[in-house]
Amino acid sequence: MDSQKLETILDKHDRQPAALLAILQDIQEEENYLPKEDVQQVAKALSISLARVYSLATFFSSFSLEPRGKHICTVCMGTACHVRGAPKLVDHIRREFDVPETGTTKDLNLTLETVNCVGACALGPLLILDQEYHSNMTPAKLDRVLKPIKQD
Ligand code: FES
Repeated sequence: MDSQKLETILDKHDRQPAALLAILQDIQEEENYLPKEDVQQVAKALSISLARVYSLATFFSSFSLEPRGKHICTVCMGTACHVRGAPKLVDHIRREFDVPETGTTKDLNLTLETVNCVGACALGPLLILDQEYHSNMTPAKLDRVLKPIKQD
């Protein structure tokens, strides 16, 4: 992250160790992940250990220490969604976007993730694209939903 941007985030939170979570959230929102250099800089600026920062950053699954795509596509692989065809959706997305095992396309356009049940089993298979829920997904519906992303 641009050092001036990081300074702005740190100043916004008065460089308080108690604001560590909020600072990491701001960085993640800006960068879509937590760059190693920024994590180190945060520890230094707040005068706390690097281990403490990583401890928090790895505790919450919403944080990523790896670069993520501009778009986040999450397929529910819980039992109800799984039996209704969620694995086919994952295969379809991997094929269409050439998503490697790491889950993020080389051009950083899309990150594919899976979760185990988001509590909307009756609507499965469920796909969440950039925080928008799409229910009863099929590969055909998937193509329509992902078309703008593919052209992005
Ligand atoms: S299994 Fe997918 S929402 Fe519950």
